[in-house]
Amino acid sequence: MKVLVIGSGAREHALCWKLKQSRHVKQIFAAPGSDGMAKVATLVPIGVGEIDKLLAFARENRVDLTVVGPEDPLVAGIVDRFQKKGLRIYGPGQNAARLEGSKAYAKDVMRRHAIPTAGHKTYDKPEPALEYLTHCDYPVVLKADGLAAGKGVSIVEDYAQAEAAVKECMVRKRFGDAGKRLLIEDFLQGEEISVHAITDGHNILPLCLAQDHKRVGDGDSGENTGGMGTYSPLPQVEEATSDQIQEEIIVRSVHAMNREEVPFRGTMFVGVMLTKQGPRVLEYNVRFGDPETQTILARLKGDLFEILSATVDGKLDQVQADWDERTAVTVVLASGGYPRDFAKGYKIHGLEYDLGPDVMVFHAGTKKVDGEWFTNGGRVLSVTALGQDLQEARAKAYAAIEKIRFDKMIYRKDIGWRGMK
Ligand SMILES: Nc1ncnc2c1ncn2[C@@H]1O[C@H](COP(=O)(O)OP(=O)(O)O)[C@@H](O)[C@H]1O
Ligand SMILES: [Mg+2]
Repeated sequence: MKVLVIGSGAREHALCWKLKQSRHVKQIFAAPGSDGMAKVATLVPIGVGEIDKLLAFARENRVDLTVVGPEDPLVAGIVDRFQKKGLRIYGPGQNAARLEGSKAYAKDVMRRHAIPTAGHKTYDKPEPALEYLTHCDYPVVLKADGLAAGKGVSIVEDYAQAEAAVKECMVRKRFGDAGKRLLIEDFLQGEEISVHAITDGHNILPLCLAQDHKRVGDGDSGENTGGMGTYSPLPQVEEATSDQIQEEIIVRSVHAMNREEVPFRGTMFVGVMLTKQGPRVLEYNVRFGDPETQTILARLKGDLFEILSATVDGKLDQVQADWDERTAVTVVLASGGYPRDFAKGYKIHGLEYDLGPDVMVFHAGTKKVDGEWFTNGGRVLSVTALGQDLQEARAKAYAAIEKIRFDKMIYRKDIGWRGMK
């Protein structure tokens, strides 16, 4: 079988790496991919937004299955476009992808189907939003409705901060059309976890729980990022809690989409806050998380191609997946200045070492020039290690990182700290 993976980050590198292990997969194409993926995939110079070209490529090269990494093409309707031409593609259709593409829509679905989430209000104009903000309880959470590359959410402590954020979003239109509508959400307190499930609309395959570290600095300090590291399993989350999440959030969400007549097929990745009152949905994503995927796939014992392919065919009940009992830890190596301004083009040393069977290095933002590696993005590499427990997995990941260096390299030294308590 020939597979096309769309995207170029460490998540897509991990998807290619795992798909490559399938006995069904003969060739993998990655569009646009990255130099770091060239060992496992044939690179195709087409961007993730160029749906016409991706479609033409998949037809001409007789691709058997296309797997979409990032959210933008899903929200833009790539799945419907491929399916109309009879091409097999993994991911939700445009209507179902609205769960991620519009936070207001997601809230409506949750309200109609009693899925636990924070209370909220939606506004189309700044004046009534500002009026509400004069008498609400702080902190509150302001969210742009649409896709804003992870920058559309601000937690504000008082009216002055709230007013600035509302104007930024609705008057100065920092997020363009994505900020036409604004959600004001009650602030939830608790520990945040990443819950992934694969579903064909009827059958559900829960993936192992993971936890991301969003802030750039140790001890969860500094700015929010795309994610600085993950680990799995989560020793601090009891089985009863994880069962409750499955029932009240995952199963209910899949059924909700069926009752809404927009069946969801693909990866449902829910950000969940574990509050004193129980688990609450923070948001839906309609694709695999980055860097969660690196950790989850390191623990997956099963054929990823079979799983994704069965999902497309509505036969997810016919495949199996088991989980490696060991712990996986992923640490993201970033370029100093990330998530704001950072430079590119620093030489990367140490990628030539063999780090052993339990350590994987996935490339996020790298470039190969004349046989040497250089940084080419904010998040540069994802180092994933497996160990008998969290302590050992962490030790292995950080020992591997000791061998890798580039100027201005930054990374968190405390990945997994909430699980160590
Ligand atoms: N209601 C809330 N209470 C507390 N924190 C929140 C709430 N909603 C979001 N957050 C925080 O803001 C982050 C980003 O919000 P999220 O809804 O996931 O948007 P996005 O990932 O699209 O930026 C979350 O990971 C969480 O840390
Ligand atoms: Mg999020």
